[in-house]
Amino acid sequence: MAEFAKLGLASWLVAQCRQLGLKHPTPVQQNCVPAILEGRDCMGCAKTGSGKTAAFVLPILQKLSEDPFGIFCLVLTPTRELAYQIAEQFRVLGKPLGLKDCIIVGGMDMVAQALELSRKPHVVIATPGRLADHLRSSNTFNIKKIRFLVMDEADRLLEQGCTDFTKDLEVIFDAAPAQRQTLLFSATLTDTLKVLQGIATNKPFFWEAPAEVRTVEQLDQRYLLVPEKVKDAYLVHLIQTFQDEHEDWSIIIFTSTCKTCQVLNMMLRRFNFPSVALHSMMKQKARFAALAKFKSSVYRILIATDVASRGLDIPTVQVVINHNTPGLPKIYIHRVGRTARAGRDGIAITLVTQYDIHLLHAIEEEIKMKLKDFSVEEATVLKILTQVNVVRRECEIKLEATDFDEKKEINKRKQLILEGKDPDLEAKRKAELAKIRQKNRQFKEQVMQTLQRQKALRLKRKQQRKQQWQQQRQQRQQQPLPSPKAKEKKK
Ligand SMILES: Nc1ncnc2c1ncn2[C@@H]1O[C@H](COP(=O)(O)OP(=O)(O)OP(=O)(O)O)[C@@H](O)[C@H]1O
Ligand SMILES: [Mg+2]
Repeated sequence: MAEFAKLGLASWLVAQCRQLGLKHPTPVQQNCVPAILEGRDCMGCAKTGSGKTAAFVLPILQKLSEDPFGIFCLVLTPTRELAYQIAEQFRVLGKPLGLKDCIIVGGMDMVAQALELSRKPHVVIATPGRLADHLRSSNTFNIKKIRFLVMDEADRLLEQGCTDFTKDLEVIFDAAPAQRQTLLFSATLTDTLKVLQGIATNKPFFWEAPAEVRTVEQLDQRYLLVPEKVKDAYLVHLIQTFQDEHEDWSIIIFTSTCKTCQVLNMMLRRFNFPSVALHSMMKQKARFAALAKFKSSVYRILIATDVASRGLDIPTVQVVINHNTPGLPKIYIHRVGRTARAGRDGIAITLVTQYDIHLLHAIEEEIKMKLKDFSVEEATVLKILTQVNVVRRECEIKLEATDFDEKKEINKRKQLILEGKDPDLEAKRKAELAKIRQKNRQFKEQVMQTLQRQKALRLKRKQQRKQQWQQQRQQRQQQPLPSPKAKEKKK
């Protein structure tokens, strides 16, 4: 078996690998590390859990130790949680170097990040959106001198999915030097190869693990045909079975939307299952907390959207359940790759409804193998069917009553962003408009009150004059008429 030292790595890095229990380099490491050390661009495509992270971290650390400065390397990833995980790998392997790293992701304090960036860390690990925001708004740092630009999950960064990174990547590429080494990694690179070749132009070394099947051999891949309406009863039954039959178990359940993710979490909690949710509508701190609880096995079930489908490395995960059949085979490959990592066993069960059979066929075609049927005791599922459906409905009603307004608010913000408007600025403008309107209302009320007061005063005066006039008349009437003699005297 090959050894790390034979790849050209320095003895301190070999010692670090040994200390971490990495005895022999994996094929992607054997092939990509020497090419990167030679100074070539690299595109590495290897199965999930095959050690792609170390394949770029190790040579970068070696080059950094030869000529340390900041910012030496920039790593881009599509998700925030993955950025933290990669930073962890840099920190562990680069400990003898006294490596300074910096994580730049959305949902965290931007001022603190700007300060960290200005201190010139050796390695910056970032999600494109937030890094581009910093590049647009700050001149306290730059990436003009970076030696390495890494794109982990490169195909996801370059495709135009629900999160489109194109504009942010343009800003980043414009700010990065043309003279650099570009390293691109993923388990599914091939369909974006042309775009990738445009980015990695420096004698690019392309390596794809030779394999008949595109998923891991140790992974037991199953499907379970279920009618749409009874899906959740099957899910509860599956989890109960794993809980009963295994001592040490961890499951990731993937769902199609944030709402389903939240509802399923509430539902499983009602059945006393130790579950946590992870989706993009949660606050970032809650996302980190949920993942930490799952990683430490305090909670055994993670219900997540595709925000958790790529790159996350949690060795205790033995089971992946696809609550929905993924619409793209690529998504399937990454989801099921959260188990059976680094030579371990694992099982993936995909729930397939009557409407999803064509999706199952597309997956089988792409991964080049047939999934096996997973059998369950239908009678047991039938027994819990009504209870599960009632609980799910109750959870849905509860969710709509609590989170609905907040979700609407978030969606409104998203809509504004899509329209190219700044939601915060819009909110400020609205608040200012409301203030002006209120002032106008108050002014109008004041005017009306003054007018009414004046009218009342006029009325009062009129009445007083009328009274005076009546009194005078009465007095005159009461006076005796002058006698004819007095009249003559006057004359
Ligand atoms: N040479 C090695 N020997 C044994 N284990 C290794 C070796 N290299 C890496 N690993 C371990 O394998 C696991 C998976 O590695 P990593 O996360 O880099 O996989 P990946 O190829 O990036 O997968 P994904 O496509 O899901 O992102 C990690 O826990 C890592 O520590
Ligand atoms: Mg990875």
